[in-house]
Amino acid sequence: MKKLLVANWKLNPQSIAEARTLASQVEQGLLALDRRRIEVVLCPPAIFLPIVRHSVHFALLGAQNISTEESGPFTGETSVRQIREFGAGYAIVGHSERRAMGESDQMINVKVKIVLASHLEPIICVGFGTKVTSTDALIRRVVAKQITLALRGIGAKTQKFTVAYEPVWAISRGLGTGKAADAQHAAGIAGFIKAKFPKVRVIYGGSLDANNALSFAKQSLIEGGLVGGASLRAAEFLKIIRAFAF
Ligand code: PGA
Repeated sequence: MKKLLVANWKLNPQSIAEARTLASQVEQGLLALDRRRIEVVLCPPAIFLPIVRHSVHFALLGAQNISTEESGPFTGETSVRQIREFGAGYAIVGHSERRAMGESDQMINVKVKIVLASHLEPIICVGFGTKVTSTDALIRRVVAKQITLALRGIGAKTQKFTVAYEPVWAISRGLGTGKAADAQHAAGIAGFIKAKFPKVRVIYGGSLDANNALSFAKQSLIEGGLVGGASLRAAEFLKIIRAFAF
């Protein structure tokens, strides 16, 4: 299976020019890589999807979030069909920053269903804890529950989806400490997830950067990364991609 590297730009950048430049620089870097081994997905703010779309050819596109609703009177929402119109093939679902804004497991389940029904690939984020201290047993229990609830009513064996293991404390800003998890710990959780949900591709997220990417890439159970802060610097994001492209 190809390694999946997802750039989660979050609420950045602020200008069309910056979005265009960042996307073009990533695209240029991809030209020099063996792209048979990697899938690179850029998830800009939805409003920049049309801009980014015109700046890339090899890089793929994704949404950071979609509505639980497909159409109708839902002010401020963006539907899965709208993001698909702009070429998005992936959607991040259940990011911890959205869970912190009140997104429930039930809403995540609805979104996963909508994404799959539209033939996009969901990237389901799991992980918890604002402190580093949780035991592996507790982490496994919570993560298994989050995935089971996200997939309720869905034939997990027949569908293509990715799970991003992102300990909340490891995320670089906001709720996190800015310290990545230990790569072996992440591989252990990835192995646990894959034993329970064999079809799933498991990637890691949380302060992934150019310095620590190789330690995660060396773990065969970790099949890529979800990159926030470091994906806003094209040269650094490309280093992370290269680490996984060996
Ligand atoms: P980070 O974010 O790489 O900035 O820690 C990852 C994420 O929140 O998806």
